[in-house]
Formats: sequence, structure tokens, C-alpha cells
Amino acid sequence: MSKILSTTPLFEAEAERLGAAGHELWMPAQPGTLSDANLLSRLSEAEALLCLLSDRIDAEILRAGSCLKLVANIAVGYENVDVDAARDLGIAVTNTPDVLTEATADMTFALLLAAARRIPEANAALRDGQFPVWRLDQPLLGLDVHGKTLGILGMGRIGSAVARRGRLGFGMRVLYYNRTRREEVEEEIGAEFVPFDRLLKESDFLCVHVPGTDETRHLMDADALSLMKPTAILVNAARGPVVDEAALGDALAKGTIAGAGLDVFEREPDVHPTLLAASERVVLTPHLGSATRDTRRAMVCLAVDNVLAVLSGEGAITPV
Ligand code: NAP
Ligand code: GLV
Repeated sequence: MSKILSTTPLFEAEAERLGAAGHELWMPAQPGTLSDANLLSRLSEAEALLCLLSDRIDAEILRAGSCLKLVANIAVGYENVDVDAARDLGIAVTNTPDVLTEATADMTFALLLAAARRIPEANAALRDGQFPVWRLDQPLLGLDVHGKTLGILGMGRIGSAVARRGRLGFGMRVLYYNRTRREEVEEEIGAEFVPFDRLLKESDFLCVHVPGTDETRHLMDADALSLMKPTAILVNAARGPVVDEAALGDALAKGTIAGAGLDVFEREPDVHPTLLAASERVVLTPHLGSATRDTRRAMVCLAVDNVLAVLSGEGAITPV
């Protein structure tokens, strides 16, 4: 029997699975209520920790887990965990890749379409009693998506799933930039590998799918934004710090680019005031990429599978 700590309430079926395997699970009754002091004291006896991307699992917290064998992050991104410190302490770290890829790609495309066709603006206007008279230069004229150029920054699992949607569903030309070339995706989707500046200059819709690392921080800065088309839309459903939010707010205000669809922010839960003020072709959602019922269940299921595998002495299923 091992003690397991979760920083957040788990779905009942997954909590029961841990119990059925003979383990003792402690989790708070409500999300966001576990204090640092409580986390540190409970961690001293735990062999596995289940956590969220909003939990900062640094070296101090890891050292408090004197019998900790595993940190199972319920997210694919894992920059919230000090992986180097965990490695030094002999603690495995796992994430939840693949199971959230399609849901996050759907969300990315939803943001792209919503910004291009101005759906939130139209929704708000209609609810405000404004059903405009029929006229050719409709005030809510949008941008075509089909047949346009889709740029993918980071052609990994989610980037490829978005590229597939663009190519097969919307007949788009797909360009991408990645540190390593992905020839299998080029063959499957007909995507073209281009240098970063060409991606910026030629994309009508630029979707960001790189992870949050020191290298990707502010990859989309003022210089990068200045290379984009004035008619282009930037979509970020990866990590907030990849985009310099102040520079993006500036670019939107000046019309350097036409719009943005953002699911992630530099300092969540805060959102830069210039982005909150921008409404024309700017769509904001509160980090909902993987937030569907089925996908969240699949993520918890994979995290629990990792816990069971590590505690039974097998290797982790999805180590980072
Ligand atoms: P992935 O398969 O690892 O894809 C990331 C891609 O980015 C890889 O192809 C990687 O290839 C590339 N890359 C890394 N560093 C780069 C750099 N400096 N320049 C250019 N390309 C770079 O990960 P994924 O499963 O697609 O997830 C991507 C990210 O989406 C996650 O890390 C997470 O932050 C975010 N995410 C957000 C949500 C949400 O709720 N909004 C949901 C899920 C995931 P190379 O290393 O070969 O360059
Ligand atoms: C969500 O942002 C994730 O990384 O899973």
C-alpha cells in the first residue's frame, strides 16, 4: 500500500481505481484549496503526486517528498515541474501526451474560425438587439479561411493535428517551422517546411504549438509580429509566454496584424489589459484547449495508469 497525494479532486472512477489497487489517496474536497503548507506536510509520506499545470512543483517541494517516486502531471506541458531537480532526486515525472491532441487541435481551429468570422462580436451584437440590415459591406465582414495559408509553429502532435484539419477540411496550403524537419508530416499532409521568417511573412493564419521553454519564450515578439501580414490572425493554444503580450496588444492596436485567438496567457490567470481591450477579431478563452469531458477523463486515466505502473515497479508509461 502506498500513499498518493493529488493536488486536486480526481474523477470518482479514477480515485476508485487507485483504492482498488490497495493505495491510499488523499485529495482536497475542492479544487484550488490545497495550501502550500498542507501540500508540503502531506507530501512527506506520499509515494506519488498527481498535479496540475497550475501547480509549481519546484526543487523545495520535491525535496519535501522524502519517499516520492513519481510526479504525474495531468497535462502534456510540464514546465511547471522542475524536471532536472526531480531527476537528481530519482523521482520520475510523467505527462499526458496524445490523449488531448485532438481536443486541443479542435480548440485551436475553433479560435481560428471564431476570430476570422468574428463570431463573438456577432454573438454579442445580436444579444444586444442589433440585427443589421442586409448590406454588402456588413460591419462584421470576416476573413476567408478555406484555401488560405496556414502556418504551424511547432509541428508536433497538436501542430500536425491542426495542419491536418486545415489541409483536409479547409483546403489550406500548410507551411510549418520546427527545429527538426518532419518529412512524414510533409508527405501525409503536403506541408512545406520553411524558415521562421517565411512562416511569419506568408501565413494568413499562424498557429503556435511549441512548448513553453526558455528557448520559445517571446519567440513571437515585436520583431516577429512585424513580419506578419496586416491581414493575418495569430492563434496561440500552446503557452502564453511564447507570445510577448504587450507587443501583441500593440500590434493589434496598430493594425500590424488583423486579429488573434488566444487560449493561453503570459501570466495566467491575468490577461494583459491591451488584449482585454481589443475586441475586433480578438477572441480570448481561459486555457480550455483540453477542456472536454472525454479528454479530461482520458488525461486523468493516463496519469493514474502512470501512478499504478510506477508504484508496481514497472516503468512509467509516458515519462518526460
Ligand atoms: P509536441 O508533440 O512535443 O510538439 C511540440 C513541437 O514543437 C515539436 O514538434 C517540437 O519539435 C517543436 N519545438 C520545440 N521547441 C521548438 C523551438 N524552439 N522552435 C521550433 N519548434 C520547436 O507537443 P504537443 O503535444 O503537440 O503539445 C504542444 C504544446 O501545446 C504543449 O507543450 C503545451 O504547452 C501546449 N498545450 C496546450 C493546451 C491548452 O490547453 N491550450 C493543451 C495541450 C497542450 P522539435 O523539438 O523537433 O523542434
Ligand atoms: C495544457 O495546457 C497541457 O499542457 O496539457
